[in-house]
Amino acid sequence: MPSATYAARRSQLQTYFDRTAVEAWARLTSDAPVSRIRATVRAGRDAMRAELLSWLPEDLSGRRLLDAGCGTGALSLEAARRGAQVVAIDVSPTLIGLARERSRELALPGRLDFRVGDMLDESLGRFDHVVAMDSLIHYRSADIARALAVLGRRTETSLLFTVAPRTALLTLMHAAGRLFPRGDRAPAIEPVTERTLRRRIAREESLSPFGLARSRRITSGFYLSNALELARR
Ligand SMILES: C[S@@+](CC[C@H](N)C(=O)[O-])C[C@H]1O[C@@H](n2cnc3c(N)ncnc32)[C@H](O)[C@@H]1O
Repeated sequence: MPSATYAARRSQLQTYFDRTAVEAWARLTSDAPVSRIRATVRAGRDAMRAELLSWLPEDLSGRRLLDAGCGTGALSLEAARRGAQVVAIDVSPTLIGLARERSRELALPGRLDFRVGDMLDESLGRFDHVVAMDSLIHYRSADIARALAVLGRRTETSLLFTVAPRTALLTLMHAAGRLFPRGDRAPAIEPVTERTLRRRIAREESLSPFGLARSRRITSGFYLSNALELARR
């Protein structure tokens, strides 16, 4: 059972990514021109996606991969191109529609299964790799650890995810974000220190077979995110 804070935040994110920000998000994840600030975010996100993909085997043939909170599906498409059987899930039906449309241009029949729903849904099955790029950054650290514990139970090899690092810069950007009109604001990002995260992960029994294998921070203008890998020992 997800916690009340997880469920409440998921519902806010669904509204935000399915309605409030859907056009901005579609544009950000395309090649269309964007403002200078958004261009730094796009560049940061491209670098983060490349980083996470470089932590996976080059040949993903026969591997099952979960793209948890896939958005418009850029990472899924690349993983499928490299041979993975991808299940890509997001709570936003509109973004999943867009991801399906974008995947049609690639001839990868049967390798991409786009679903609308919660990434923690048990019925999705087991995976070799799970990737949650910037989809847990809006949850509280306790909910992030619990989500990782649920995902870890069905991960055979590695669980890649990102968190918002707690830094002075992010606190400042956060404060700046609060100056925008309420209606345009994204649900708050929940910065977390690596120490807190390690402590919470250590408390989750289902994560005891995993070790924190890699960590990499990507900073690009208004984009700041920290990738981590939990790998089965
Ligand atoms: C910042 S976007 C990142 C999308 C994609 N991973 C990427 O990097 O392009 C976060 C996405 O996570 C999705 N999301 C958040 N919580 C989720 C949950 N519990 N289950 C499924 N999707 C979720 C949101 O709808 C949104 O599309």
